[in-house]
Amino acid sequence: MDIKGLIRKALEAQQKAYVPYSKFHVGAALLTEDDEIFTGCNIEIASYSATLCAERTAIFKAISEGHKNIKAIVVVGDTDFTYPCGICRQVIREFGNNAKIIIAKSEDDYREYTLEELLPHSFGPEDLEEAKNRSENNV
Ligand code: THU
Repeated sequence: MDIKGLIRKALEAQQKAYVPYSKFHVGAALLTEDDEIFTGCNIEIASYSATLCAERTAIFKAISEGHKNIKAIVVVGDTDFTYPCGICRQVIREFGNNAKIIIAKSEDDYREYTLEELLPHSFGPEDLEEAKNRSENNV
């Protein structure tokens, strides 16, 4: 699947957004390491904090189906370029540290980023591993 195809999938998913409160539609589509595609839309809940972003919907669908490594994720929204929120960046950090992050306006107009660009000096699973090793070695 090429980037344009993944953008098309994200645009389709955006149509499914359940956004009665913000009316802001977001769609995401991701490609796993083993070339499977998962899509997601944002889902809003009357108790607002229960709302789920499109990126996390797609990522949690992939994880729950056994695909833990993401190699690309596309995000589309109601602004020209809709960037992932901080929480979604942290979730991408967990499952797609080396993923291409594509912020798209259309199939032909998109920007590509690394996670390091969007979430520099991030905290991740390796930090916990390092701390564990330190305590085991009494450092
Ligand atoms: N939203 C996403 O789906 N992804 C983001 O990364 C930014 C925000 C959604 C959450 C909420 O449903 C709406 O956009 C307005 O915040």
